[in-house]
Amino acid sequence: MSQNQVRRLRANETIFLEGDEGDCAYLIERGRVLIYINVHGSEVPLRVVGQGEVFGEMSLIDAQPRSASCRAVSDCDLVVVNKQQLLDRVKSVDPVVRLLMRVLLDRLRSQNDLLRGKGPPESVIGKLDPLEAEKKEALERIGLEHRIASGLDADEFEPFYQPVICLATGAIRGCEALIRWRAKDGTLVMPAVFMDAMEETHLILRAGQVMLEKSVRDLPAMLEKFGRDGAKFFVSVNVSGRQFIEPGFVEDLERVRSRSNLPPELIKLELTERIMTEGTQALDCLQECRRRGYLLAIDDFGTGFSSLQYLAQMPLTDLKIDRSFLQKMQTDEKSLSVVKSLIHMAGLLRLNVIAEGIESREQMELLRDLGVSFGQGFFLTKPVALDEFLALPERFEF
Ligand code: C2E
Ligand code: CMP
Ligand code: CA
Ligand code: CA
Repeated sequence: MSQNQVRRLRANETIFLEGDEGDCAYLIERGRVLIYINVHGSEVPLRVVGQGEVFGEMSLIDAQPRSASCRAVSDCDLVVVNKQQLLDRVKSVDPVVRLLMRVLLDRLRSQNDLLRGKGPPESVIGKLDPLEAEKKEALERIGLEHRIASGLDADEFEPFYQPVICLATGAIRGCEALIRWRAKDGTLVMPAVFMDAMEETHLILRAGQVMLEKSVRDLPAMLEKFGRDGAKFFVSVNVSGRQFIEPGFVEDLERVRSRSNLPPELIKLELTERIMTEGTQALDCLQECRRRGYLLAIDDFGTGFSSLQYLAQMPLTDLKIDRSFLQKMQTDEKSLSVVKSLIHMAGLLRLNVIAEGIESREQMELLRDLGVSFGQGFFLTKPVALDEFLALPERFEF
């Protein structure tokens, strides 16, 4: 069925019958629809739905036959919502929410069955294979969230630090704090395992707080080693969008910083382009942070939602070029052009450029020749624990 086709019906026309296969849902543009079930030959009305309401969605979501029959009560215009349109959206939902949705549908179907006199039915959840896989995913996610919360309670999260160097001199000029989870059994768990679960829940707020506090706590020792003779040094802390727009973020940041007596110019907040979609609240917060003197970097630039108009509005100090551009620039002329124009644009906007994910000497030299001031990457050093970071030389010799 084509997208957003309109089905026009006369009063009393049947739309579909219970037990039919569901191939689309409907959005009522005009008119009213009766939802009913058949009990021993008589109709039992369940609900009348009207303009702006949706029906016929259940069988698409749980891949079972229509749970009830539907008939136009008056002349109707129904916008057809095709199966794929709906399923694409269901698929993009968090697995836990998806499981809850299934549970609700299961309950609604049981209610209808009870009205039919069919006695309490057994749950279909767990019986059908695709549902089983989904349920497993949801339960695993709930389990992971529980373990992360316990890990936060037990103070198992800490920053690792990756040096950011001046490409011209090799001197370490700062570092990026990257979260690591030292689980009870001693294994070091990488963000790829837990970051999504954190970002989708309030856990990111607790983790963000831990990272901020520990990075600021570790900063004096780093300054002692790398900030001698007044050399500039910064610690860069990744801040997720959700954390950034949480009321009280700036006050919290100020509280943590002022406890350590460090000036805000030593703390850089790394935000991704997604922050630009958070609206004026995020922009106000950015301006407030900048006004107070914090450095602001745009992370992973060019990989996501990029609006140059927003970029010009944001009071940024740094632009980080994503590793994906670096990887391609040596072999692909177009990627090299993108990198060159990013550098040029950053220059016009008076932003420092930091290239991230430098994996070879050739990349580093090319970036330096293109005028990039700072870089970080495995070619120099992987992120390391504080004591290892403090043992690094003040400058890299190339
Ligand atoms: P990111 O902010 O883009 O951080 C850079 C990632 O690239 C880090 O991965 C780093 O270890 C890795 N990396 C650095 N140099 C190289 C290189 O030369 N080659 C390769 N292949 N990778 C390199 P990591 O530590 O696994 O972090 C992954 C992502 O998790 C980060 O990407 C960031 O988005 C998120 N993240 C990490 N720590 C935090 C945090 O404290 N708060 C928030 N909100 N997000 C964090
Ligand atoms: P579906 O099962 O695809 O087809 C029948 C539709 O009727 C169903 O989707 C829901 O939109 C709706 N429906 C089923 N049962 C009820 C109920 N108990 N109350 C309200 N609406 C229902
Ligand atoms: Ca980052
Ligand atoms: Ca990045």
